[in-house]
Amino acid sequence: MNDFQHSISQGIPDILPEVLPFDSTVSHAPIRKDLLNKEEKKLAVCNALRYFDKKYHNLLAQEFTAELKKYGRIYMYRFRPAYAMHARNINEYPHRSLQAAAIMLMIQNNLDPEVAQHPHELITYGGNGAVFQNWAQYLLTMKYLSEMTDDQTLVMYSGHPMGLFPSHRDAPRVVVTNGMVIPNYSSPDHWERFNALGVSQYGQMTAGSYMYIGPQGIVHGTTITVMNAARRKGDGTQAGKVFVTSGLGGMSGAQGKASVIAGVVGIIAEINPKAVDKRFKQGWVDEVFTDLDELISRINVARSSKKAVSLAYQGNIIDLWEKLAEKKVPVDLGSDQTSLHNPWSGGYYPAGFTLEESNEMMVKEPDRFRMEVRRSLIRHASAINKMVNNGMYFWDYGNAFLLEAGRAGADVLKEDGTFRFPSYVQDIMGPLFFDYGFGPFRWVCTSGDPLDLSVSDRIACEVLEEIVKQSPPEIRLQMQDNIHWIREAGKNRMVVGSQARILYADCEGRTKIAEAFNKAISAGQIKAPIVLGRDHHDVSGTDSPYRETSNIYDGSQFTADMAIQNVIGDGFRGATWVSIHNGGGVGWGEVINGGFGLLLDGTAEADRHLHSMLHWDVNNGIARRAWARNSSALFAIERAMQEEPLLRVTVASLVDDDLISKLSF
Ligand SMILES: NC(=O)c1ccc[n+]([C@@H]2O[C@H](COP(=O)([O-])OP(=O)(O)OC[C@H]3O[C@@H](n4cnc5c(N)ncnc54)[C@H](O)[C@@H]3O)[C@@H](O)[C@H]2O)c1
Repeated sequence: MNDFQHSISQGIPDILPEVLPFDSTVSHAPIRKDLLNKEEKKLAVCNALRYFDKKYHNLLAQEFTAELKKYGRIYMYRFRPAYAMHARNINEYPHRSLQAAAIMLMIQNNLDPEVAQHPHELITYGGNGAVFQNWAQYLLTMKYLSEMTDDQTLVMYSGHPMGLFPSHRDAPRVVVTNGMVIPNYSSPDHWERFNALGVSQYGQMTAGSYMYIGPQGIVHGTTITVMNAARRKGDGTQAGKVFVTSGLGGMSGAQGKASVIAGVVGIIAEINPKAVDKRFKQGWVDEVFTDLDELISRINVARSSKKAVSLAYQGNIIDLWEKLAEKKVPVDLGSDQTSLHNPWSGGYYPAGFTLEESNEMMVKEPDRFRMEVRRSLIRHASAINKMVNNGMYFWDYGNAFLLEAGRAGADVLKEDGTFRFPSYVQDIMGPLFFDYGFGPFRWVCTSGDPLDLSVSDRIACEVLEEIVKQSPPEIRLQMQDNIHWIREAGKNRMVVGSQARILYADCEGRTKIAEAFNKAISAGQIKAPIVLGRDHHDVSGTDSPYRETSNIYDGSQFTADMAIQNVIGDGFRGATWVSIHNGGGVGWGEVINGGFGLLLDGTAEADRHLHSMLHWDVNNGIARRAWARNSSALFAIERAMQEEPLLRVTVASLVDDDLISKLSF
C-alpha cells in the first residue's frame, strides 16, 4: 500500500495532523453569516467533535470555536489531506468494490483545486455547492468507500456518512440526500443556520452528487443555448452577433468558451480577478479589459470583422450594462450568470464597491448589504430594459435573476405579474431539448487516459451518425448540433480534471452510446470502466419552477413528484449511486433535483442496468411533460411507446382553447 492508499484507508487519522498554513493561492469561500446564538454555537462545536476521539476534544474544541468565529463554519482545516487532490486511475484507490472506487474518483475530482471553486471549504461551484461540510466527513466517507463490498450501501446525509448498511449487488452503492429539510424550514437563513450547525448542506446539483466535471459540463449546454438564441435573431446566423453576460465562476466560466464555439462575440463581466485569471489562463477567455471605453472599441471591431472572440470585463456587470446603454452600443443577446440563487452571501456583488468591501459588508452589515444588492438589481434591470428596447434579446439563465430582481422591486414584471423576459428553458432548452428527452448526458473515463476519452468520443460520434439517418425532422437539428459538438470536442481541449465528456442526447442516444461503451470496455478497446451520469439540469431529474420546469404550464411546476419519482426509480433500476437535493441552481427551497452515477465495467450486469435505468431516467420526465400538454413531449412519448411495448403512459386529451375561454366563473 502506498502513502496515498494508506491515508485513504485510515480515514480520520489516529494522530492529529499538523495544521497546514492557510493557502491564499486558492479561492476561499466568503465568510458566512453569523446567525447562531451562543447555545447554538456550543451545539455546533459539540456536533463537530462527534467525529473525534475524546482525548482530542479539548484542543479541537478551541480550534473549531475559532473557525466558527472567523468563518461562520467549522471546516476542520487541520484535517485537509496533505496528498494532492485530483481524480486518479480507478485502480489506485484501495477498494473491495470497483463501483465504490469509481465514486472515490468522482469525489476527488469534485474537490480538485483545478475544478472546484473553493476547494479548501469543500465547495465545488455556485458559491455554496458543497461535497461535504467538513474534512472529517470527507475522510470518513473515503474510508467507508475503500472498505465496502457490493453487498453494502453507504448512506450519506448532507455530507455526513451515516454508515454502511447491508443491501445487495443490484442496489446503489451510495444513496445521497442533501439539504432535505421539512418544507417550512427551507428559507435561505435556515440553510445558514443548519449548515453552521453542521447538520445540513447545499449540494447544488452535481457538487453534492459527485458528478461535476468542470465547466466543460456546462460549455455544451451554454453553446447550444447561445446558438439557438442567435438563431432567433435577425438572419438566424451567429457570426458577428454580440452576446453580453456576467460571471466567470464555476458554471458561468463556460460562457467565454461557449461563445467562441457558438461563433459569437462574447463579453463577460466578472468582479473577482481570481476567477478572471483562472479562465484566462485556461484559454477560455481570449482578452481581459478593465477599461470600459477600450472594451467598447474592441467590441465594435469584433462585430464588424464577424470574428468570434471572448472578452472579459474585470469589473461589475452593472457598470458594463450602464455604459453599453449610455453609449447605445448594439448588443444582440444578453443574459446574466451571477449567483443570484445566493444573493446575500456572495452570489451577487452590488455596484459601487470593491469585492473586498462587499465581502466585509455582507458579514459586518448584512442589512446594508441586502439593501445595496436590491438597489443594484434595480439599476441592473433598468439598464437591461434600455438595451432590450434597442433590440436585444434577453433571457434569464436560471440563476434566479428575474426572481430576485422582481423581489427587489426592479422593473421586470408584466402587467399580469409574469416576468417580462423568458427563461432559457421556456424559449430554448424546454421545447427544443428537455421535452424531447435531450439532456446533459456525460461520462468519465476512469483510466484517466486521454486516449480512452478520444476512443469514447469516436464511438459516441459513430452511434449518433447512425441514429441521425433515421431521426424524425423534429429532432434532426438537435442531433446534427450534437454530432458537430462531439466531432470538435477533442480539438476544443475542454478537459479540466477527470477525462470527461458531455453530450446532449435523448433516450435512444444515451442508451445506444452506453451500450457501445460497455461493449468497448469488455473488448478491451477502452482500458478501464466508464462512469455514466448527467447534470441534474435535465428532462426528468429536476423540478424547478423558474428553470428546468419553467416551461410546464399546467400549474404543476411547483410540485416535485417528478424529481422524487426519478431518484427512487433510478435507485431500483441499477444506478450505482443516486442523489436527491433541496436547492441547486436557483436556490435553497426553490428546487428539488436529483442525479445518478452508473458504472459501466463491460459486464452483462452493467448492460442490464443501463437499459433499465436510462429508459426510466429519460421517459419519466417526458411522460410528465406530455401530461402537461407540451407538444414536443407529446410527440416524444408516443414515439417511446411505439418503441417499447411495456411503456404505457396516461396521455393527455387536448382541450379546445375556445371551449375553455367560453367558460364563465
Ligand atoms: N451555465 C448554465 O448553464 C447555468 C444553468 C443554470 C443556472 N446557472 C446559474 O448560474 C449561476 C452561476 O453559476 P456559477 O456556478 O458560475 O456560480 P459562481 O458563483 O461560481 O460564479 C458566479 C460569478 O459571478 C460573479 N459575480 C457576482 N456578482 C457579480 C457582479 N455584480 N458583476 C460581475 N460579476 C459578478 C462572481 O464573482 C462569481 O465568480 C448560478 O446561479 C447557477 O445556478 C447556470
